[in-house]
Amino acid sequence: MRQALPAPDSPAAIRAALDRIGLTRADVYDAFLGRLDEVGAVVDFLARVAPDARDVLDVGCGTGRLLPRLAERFPGRVEGLEPDADYADAARARGGVVRGVGLEALDDADRWDLLVLANGPLVYLTDADARARALRRAWAALRPGGALVVDAPNFLRFLRFYQAPAPQTATVRGVTCQRAPGHAWDFHDALWVHQDHLTLTAPDGTTARYRERFTFAMLPAPGLRAEVRAAGFADLQTFTGWHAVAPGRHEGVRLLLVARRPR
Ligand SMILES: C[S@@+](CC[C@H](N)C(=O)[O-])C[C@H]1O[C@@H](n2cnc3c(N)ncnc32)[C@H](O)[C@@H]1O
Repeated sequence: MRQALPAPDSPAAIRAALDRIGLTRADVYDAFLGRLDEVGAVVDFLARVAPDARDVLDVGCGTGRLLPRLAERFPGRVEGLEPDADYADAARARGGVVRGVGLEALDDADRWDLLVLANGPLVYLTDADARARALRRAWAALRPGGALVVDAPNFLRFLRFYQAPAPQTATVRGVTCQRAPGHAWDFHDALWVHQDHLTLTAPDGTTARYRERFTFAMLPAPGLRAEVRAAGFADLQTFTGWHAVAPGRHEGVRLLLVARRPR
């Protein structure tokens, strides 16, 4: 690692800290990363690139921000897939039908017209073989002609223009949540380590602290495209972001691509 980070807390310790304050991990995720302002642009993009899609699977749906709008926009079945139990529960509370597994456990066949991996689910799979298997499952779950949409961070660009993240504060049901993020890197395995140090203060002064860590594969743009092609997808198009109305090169902060399972 280029930079040492203090050890993260165990899942049990994180849960105990949150229970003391009366919040969930999903509350904290939504407070800092919920991005409801982006939902309209994401769903409009999906409708542009897959106008005939009926059945849509939101892979790595998180706390379910996209699910209600997807259900409004697409006429068939809309479901989510989410391996994080706390986030899956929050997505269900938003009315979503959510299976509590990751893409690597998807065993549907010829079932969906559109699979969406918005905001990075693929890079949580840090092992290249595991990603290859997961992408093949995505291929098999789509109907012939169906579309895969993958959205991931452009970590190469983040490294080139790196700025240490600033602390943030949000309020959830009267609880003040302070988030101090930190990063470390493993260049041998091309991993980006993101760690949040949360300090939560309830109105009565009760305080809880915990550290949570997420590790991501730093996929370069051509590597992502090669992995998607190797899984059998064709007709790849790259886009600069959700607002894009035409394909564009992967020069910016996001790697957004659309690919099809051949008919
Ligand atoms: C940054 S969140 C984005 C959530 C949602 N797609 C959105 O745009 O709001 C990434 C999500 O991917 C999920 N994830 C992690 N590993 C995954 C896997 N193997 N398969 C599918 N999703 C995964 C995480 O639990 C997390 O909820």
